[in-house]
This record gives sequence, C-alpha cells and structure tokens, in this order.
Amino acid sequence: MYFPSRIRALAAGAALLAASAIAQAQQLPNVVILATGGTIAGAGASAANSATYAAAKVPVDKLIAGLPEISKVANVKGEQVFQIASESFTNDNLLVLAKRVSALVKQSDVDGIVVTHGTDTLEETAYFLNLVVRTSKPIVVVGSMRPGTALSADGALNLYDAVNVAASKDAMGKGVLVTMNDEINSGRDVSKSINIKTEAFKSQWGALGMIVEGKNYWFRAPVKRHTAQSEFNIDEITTLPQVDIAYSYGNVTPTAYEALGKGAKAIIHAGTGNGSVAAAVVPTLQKLRADGVQVIRSARVPGGFVLRNAEQPDDKYDWVVAHDLNPQKARILAMVALTKPLSAADLQRVFWEY
Ligand code: DGL
Repeated sequence: MYFPSRIRALAAGAALLAASAIAQAQQLPNVVILATGGTIAGAGASAANSATYAAAKVPVDKLIAGLPEISKVANVKGEQVFQIASESFTNDNLLVLAKRVSALVKQSDVDGIVVTHGTDTLEETAYFLNLVVRTSKPIVVVGSMRPGTALSADGALNLYDAVNVAASKDAMGKGVLVTMNDEINSGRDVSKSINIKTEAFKSQWGALGMIVEGKNYWFRAPVKRHTAQSEFNIDEITTLPQVDIAYSYGNVTPTAYEALGKGAKAIIHAGTGNGSVAAAVVPTLQKLRADGVQVIRSARVPGGFVLRNAEQPDDKYDWVVAHDLNPQKARILAMVALTKPLSAADLQRVFWEY
C-alpha cells in the first residue's frame, strides 16, 4: 500500500533527528585520544587475571567503541601513536608524542587531549608534557592498573573521567592532569606509589580535585610553572640530552656514578635520607662536576624535599637540589632544562620554579 504523506512524514522525522544529532555534536567539545599502549589497552586470559595479562594489545578505536558513554561528553577521535608497554618508553617516544600533542592543541577544532598510557612511566610523560607543551587547553594522561578483561577493571571509568576532564573548560590552565581512581592529580606532582592496587597514583601535596559521575570538584591549583607559562617549548626541541639516575644505599661504591657519568649531561643522585651522598661517592661527583656534568641531588625517600646546603655543601660543590621532585621526575626536568646551556645556578632556578 502506498502512503506518500506517511513516507514524507517519516522522511521529515528522520531529517529532524539527523539535524538534532548534528546540532548536539556541534555543541559538544572535541577531544582527541592519543593512545600509546599500557594496561589500559591490555588483555588477560580470564576475568580473574587482574595482574597477569599482556599490556598494549587493544587498539584505540576498540577502547573508544567499548565506552559509548563518552559520545555524550565529547566528539571523540582516536589516534594510535604507539602500542607499547610504558616501561619501554624512550626519549624519542616522548618527543613524538609531545610534538603530536603540540600540533593538535593549535587546532581550533580541538578542545582537549587525552593520552592513554602505561602506568609504569605515566608520571614521567605527564611531567614532560607539563613542561614543554605551550597550551592552556586540558591535557589529561590516563592509565589503568587492571586490563579491561578483568573483574572490576578500572580503565573504563578512568578513561571516561579523562575525557570529561579534557572536555571541561574548568580544567583549562591547570597544567597536565592525570585522572586515576576518581582523583584529578597534577602531572607534575603525581607518582605511581603502589604497584598493584587501583589506588596507585598519589601526589604528596594532595590531589587537585576529584571527578564523580562526570563532574569535576576542584580543591586547589598548581603553583609551579607549566604549559603556557613554561620557558620550554617542544616545537623548539629536537633531541633530549642523556640524564641518568644512580640509586644510593648502604655500602654504595662510585662504580655506577663513574659509568653513568661517562655519557650523561647530568646525574640524578637518588640519595638516602635528604639526598645524602656517601663519603665514598663525593670525590666521584666532584670530578664529574669538574668535567661539566651537572650533579642533581634527589632522594630515594618518596616524601618531603631535598634541602640545599643542609648536610651537603651544594654551594661549595656547585651541585643542584631537586627540591620535591623524585629521581624520575628530576631526570625529566633536567633533560628539558639542559636542552639549553645552563649553569648550575640557572639549573637550580629551574628546579625551584618547575
Ligand atoms: N607494563 C606496564 C606499563 O605499560 C603495565 C602497567 C600499566 O600500564 O598499568 O606501564
């Protein structure tokens, strides 16, 4: 039976629906998800495997397809930048990722960026982006402690939260952020402090806020220089200098410091206590300094900060203190800072300010 008026009505209804969908999409922010691998893209053999799995397996399009709720939050596009476990991240990976982020945030049709990442070195990448990407747009780094195949997997909610924050105007100007386990942390401050629980990421100075059911609750903002206020710019960086970390402990010898000092522009000393340097190691560090290697005292102790000229004569030895940065974060800042020819005094200013 032929009902032209009915067909016309159905066609009109379909057109209305399409128009309203387009209108809604035009109102939503545009967020790009840059995927790099990790557990958030991991897969285990069974739902009981929350810790035994293969990282970096699930492609970004599948991650997005598996989370339809984000289509109500933002217009989301995915790019697979890498597919690696983050313990294998290299300086080249950092440069490629940061340059992609920098290019995207310059686009007027991009409102925010999410980077999915393994949790092992997530804190290093987040801090690197915080130092070198000149933007006020939200950049949110996110991972998970359990693969999506596991019971009580945390990746889906972490990613949903990350897209929400990246799509939020109130997340602008706060530097690079990390959303894990309902918290919004500063990419500068946050560190992986528990290696086998979903409550893995902590900032010793506290989270910036929380995100609950897609709503951001802010309680503080960063005071250190970052992103748009940074003197460093990924667009002007083509390579990163070698900076290595030497871990200290009782009965330590200079062997590691001597070996690392051969090729490094800076050595991060992961010292005992307040970044203390064993008597057996002092002469080696003095020689490295005399040879032009920067010596930066951090601490293996996760909390507090290293005091300048307390137990160690930093002024006399021309050494730098990492302030509250742990050794892996101090390495990131030293690499970025030493893309410029800085004296130890200049470098110390950078460590005070960033
Ligand atoms: N291989 C580790 C990584 O990619 C897995 C840890 C994780 O992503 O949670 O960082």
